[in-house]
Amino acid sequence: MDTRDEVRDRNRDAWNVGRHQAWLDALGSPAEAAAVIAADPARVARRIAPHLGEVSGLRIASVQGSHGRIAVALALMGAKATVFDFAEENRRYALALAAAAGVSVDYRLGDVMAAGGPGLDHAFDAVVMELGILHYHQDIEAFFAVMRRLAAPGARLVLCEFHPVERKLYWAGRGTAPDYFATDLVVADVPNPTGSGTSLGQCAYRFWTLAEVANAVIGAGFRLARLEEHPDWTDPTIPGTYTLVADA
Ligand SMILES: C[S@@+](CC[C@H](N)C(=O)[O-])C[C@H]1O[C@@H](n2cnc3c(N)ncnc32)[C@H](O)[C@@H]1O
Repeated sequence: MDTRDEVRDRNRDAWNVGRHQAWLDALGSPAEAAAVIAADPARVARRIAPHLGEVSGLRIASVQGSHGRIAVALALMGAKATVFDFAEENRRYALALAAAAGVSVDYRLGDVMAAGGPGLDHAFDAVVMELGILHYHQDIEAFFAVMRRLAAPGARLVLCEFHPVERKLYWAGRGTAPDYFATDLVVADVPNPTGSGTSLGQCAYRFWTLAEVANAVIGAGFRLARLEEHPDWTDPTIPGTYTLVADA
C-alpha cells in the first residue's frame, strides 16, 4: 500500500502529464478562454458566487483551482483571488489566463494540505472549491482543518462536489462493484478535458460519503449553513453533485 505522500506524488505527477496542452486543446488559448470568461464571469462562477453575496472586494481562496477559470472569473467580479494547487502545468495555464483577462491571481503551487502560514492563515473571506476536490485526500478531517485555518473569522466555505451516490454507485470509471460505504483507494484515469479518451495517467482516489464530508466540515469548526443536492447531468433521477455552504 502506498503511503499518503506517495499517493499525493503520484496524483501530482498525473496532473502534470500533458496538462498544459490539454487545457490549450480543451479551452483554447489563454486569450480565447479569457474572452469567454470575461463575457460572463458570473456564469463561470455560477456554482460558487451565488453563495457569497457581493463578490467584489472579497479575498477568496480557490482551493485546487486548477486552470484558474474560477479564480479569474471571481477576479473579474472584483475579488482578490488566490489559487492553491500542486500542478505546475495548471499554474502555467492559469497565470497566462489571468494575464489575458487583465486580472491578477496569486497562484500558490504546492500540496494544499500544507497551505497556510504567514499572510495566509485566516486571510480569506471565502474558501471555495468545485468538482473533483475531496477524493484526492485520505484524511478529510485534516483537509477541512486546513480550510478552517485559511478562513478568516466569519468566512464562508463553499464546496460544490460530485455526489457520492454518483461516484460510489454509478461512476463507470470506478471499475469495482458499487458500494456506498467503500473506503478503498480507487486507481482510475486523471480527468482528460479534451474528450479524446486518451489516458493522461492515473490517480488514486478516496471517495467520501455525504455524512463523512458534513461531519468533517462541522468537526473543523465550521457551522453548516446549507446543503443542496443537484440532479446528475446525464441521469437526472440520481444526485450528480451537491453544494455545501458553511461559515467559520
Ligand atoms: C478536478 S480538478 C478541480 C478543478 C476545479 N473543478 C476547477 O475548475 O478549478 C482537481 C485539482 O486538484 C489538484 N490537486 C489534487 N490534489 C491536490 C493536493 N494535494 N494539493 C494541491 N492540489 C491538488 C489538481 O492539480 C487539480 O487541479
